[in-house]
Amino acid sequence: MGFLNFAVRRAAPALATAGVGAWATITTVNDDWDDYTYMFQGTSAKANEEPEKIVILGSGWAGLNALRKCAGPGKDIVVVSPRPHFLYTPLLAGSAVGTITLRSACEPLRALVENAATRATSATFVRADAREIDVNNKTVRATTGEGFTQLELSYDKLIIAVGAQPNTFGIPGVQEHALFLKEAEDSAKIHAKLLCNLEKAAALMRHGGSDEHTQQEIDRLLKVFVVGGGPTGVELSAELADFVHSDVTMRYGQDLSDRVKIVLVEAMPRILAPFDESLANVAKQHLQSRGVDVRTGVAITKVGENEATFAPSTPRDATPEQKSAALAQAKTEEGGALIWAAGIGARPLVQKLAKALGQTDTRGLQVDNTLRVKGADGVYAIGDAALSGYAPTAQVAAQQGKHIGRAIRDASDTPFEYKHAGSLCCLGQGNGIAQLATGQSFNVWDAIGAPAIGPNGDQRAITGAPAFVLWRSLYWTKLMSTNSRLSLAADWAKSVIAGRDIVEPVLKRRPTMESFGTSLQRNSTVRFVKEQAEEAAASQKKKFWVLSSPRKS
Ligand code: FAD
Ligand code: NAI
Repeated sequence: MGFLNFAVRRAAPALATAGVGAWATITTVNDDWDDYTYMFQGTSAKANEEPEKIVILGSGWAGLNALRKCAGPGKDIVVVSPRPHFLYTPLLAGSAVGTITLRSACEPLRALVENAATRATSATFVRADAREIDVNNKTVRATTGEGFTQLELSYDKLIIAVGAQPNTFGIPGVQEHALFLKEAEDSAKIHAKLLCNLEKAAALMRHGGSDEHTQQEIDRLLKVFVVGGGPTGVELSAELADFVHSDVTMRYGQDLSDRVKIVLVEAMPRILAPFDESLANVAKQHLQSRGVDVRTGVAITKVGENEATFAPSTPRDATPEQKSAALAQAKTEEGGALIWAAGIGARPLVQKLAKALGQTDTRGLQVDNTLRVKGADGVYAIGDAALSGYAPTAQVAAQQGKHIGRAIRDASDTPFEYKHAGSLCCLGQGNGIAQLATGQSFNVWDAIGAPAIGPNGDQRAITGAPAFVLWRSLYWTKLMSTNSRLSLAADWAKSVIAGRDIVEPVLKRRPTMESFGTSLQRNSTVRFVKEQAEEAAASQKKKFWVLSSPRKS
C-alpha cells in the first residue's frame, strides 16, 4: 500500500506534465495546421509574375510568426534584425541565474529562415538595424557592422515587428548603472555580475578581516535590487531567491547565503498589476517566505554606481508640493547590483515613424483593426511595436504575427481577433500562479475545481505546483524546435541534479558585418553594388549597400 502511494505520488506530476504537454501540443498544432498544408505547395510564383517583396523588421515573437505564415509561393521575404536568433523571453529570468543556458532560450534564425525559404520563392536574413522608413518611396534604410555600412531595402509589404526597449523614464543614472532583462546579453550580464559579486564577497568573508568597512562591503556586494514588480521583476526575484537558497548555500556556504538580500521595489501599491489581486498576494507571500524584501508604494528616483535612491511614490496627478514632500523622504541605499525591470517603451525607429506620420501618441505605432499602420500604405505593425489596444505580451505578438502572415499569404484583409488563453507567472522551482481564461461551455479548469476569479468571475486561478507544471509544460511545448526542447529539458534536469550553472559567462558582442551568410546576390530586394562599395571604401572607408531593381532571370 505504502509503495502504491509512493508510486502514485511520484507518477502524478509526471502524468500531469505529460497531459498538459499533450494538450498544449494539440492546441499548438491546431493553430498551425496551415504550416503542414502549405509545406507541400510549390515555391514558384506564377509565370512572368514578380514575387511580392516582403520585408519583416524584427526576429522576435511577432516577426517570426509572421515569417512562418507568410512564406508561400510568390513571396520574396527579407527578415532584418540586429539579433541573429529568436529569443524565447519567458526563459530569460531562469538564464540570468543559471537555471538554464542561453542556448535553450535562443533559436538560431538561419534555421528558421531556411525553413521558410523552402516554401517561399526566397527568404533571407539580413543582420542589421533598421534606422529609417520612407513610406512614400517604400524603402527601409538600415545599418550593419559598426554603424557605417548602409543598406536600403525596397518593399511591397513591410511588417514592423521591432518590439520595445526598457523604459528608463529619464530617471538619472538608470541607463549608466542599471542592468536590464530584455535581451540574451542582458541575462548574461546579470549572471556575470551576480557571480562576480559572490566571488568578491566570498574572498572578503574568508580573508578580508572583521573590520566594519569590510563587513559593510560584503553586505553591499550581496544586496540585489530588482526594480519593477511586474511579471519580469517577480519572476526574476523568485529565480534569484531559489538560486540563493540552493546554489549559493551549496557552493558558497550558509553564512554567505544568509547575508544575501534581494529587494523587490514596486512603485504601485501592489505587485503584478496584470494579475488578479488574490493571485498577486499569493506571489507576494511566496516571495516573502523565500526572504525577498518586497517594497510596494516605493519608487526608485535615482541610481548611482553602487547605490539607489528610494522615495514614496506619488500618483501621476500629484501636485508639485506632494512630489517634493515625497522626495524629501528619499533615502539612498548601497547595493551590489540593480536590475531595471520597470517596464518598456517604444524604440527610436517606431517613435520616428509615428512622428513622421503625424501620430500624437508615440509610445507605439497606431494601427487599425487589421493591424495596418494608419497613414502608411502596405505597412503593418505588430507585437510590442504596435499600439493595438492589447498588452505587450508574447501571446499577443505571436497571434498578431500569424494573423498578418496569413493575411499577406492569402491576400485577405480580416480584422485581428485576439484569443486570450490566460496569464502565467513562474515563481521559481515548483511554484507559480496562473490566471486562466475560460471558454463558453465546458473547460478543463472547472473539471479540476480551479476557483473563479477576475472582475466577472469568468477566469480561473491555479497556484503552487500545478501552476508550475502548467508553466513548464506550456512553455516547453511552445519552443520553436526539437533541438531547443532537448536542450531545455536537459538544463532543467541538470539544475535539479547537479545545481545551477555557476560559470561566469564570457561576454562578447561581435560586429554584425560578417553575418551575411545568405548570398545577397540571390535576393532581389537587397543587393550589394560592388563598384559603389569599393569607391566608397577607397574615399571614406564606408561601404554602401543600395537598392537595386529586381533581378530578371
Ligand atoms: P521582440 O520579441 O522583442 O522582438 C523584437 C525584434 O526586433 C528583436 O529580434 C530585435 O532584435 C529586433 N529589432 C529591434 N530593433 C530593431 C531594428 N531597429 N531593426 C530591425 N530589428 C530590430 N510575454 C508573455 O506572453 N509571456 C511571458 O512569459 C513573457 N515573459 C517575458 C519575460 C521577459 C524577461 C520579458 C522581457 C518579456 C516577457 N514577455 C512575456 C513579453 C514578450 O517577450 C514580449 O511581449 C514579446 O517579446 C513581444 O514580441 P515582439 O516580436 O513584438 O518583440
Ligand atoms: P511592467 O510594465 O508589467 O511592470 C513594470 C513595473 O515597474 C510596474 O508595475 C511599474 O509600476 C513599476 N515601476 C515603474 N517605474 C518604477 C520605479 N521608478 N520604481 C519602482 N517601480 C517602478 O513590465 P514587465 O514586468 O517588464 O512586463 C512587460 C510586459 O511583458 C508586460 O506586458 C508583461 O505582462 C509581459 N510579461 C509577461 C510575463 C508572463 O506572462 N509571465 C513575464 C514577463 C513579462
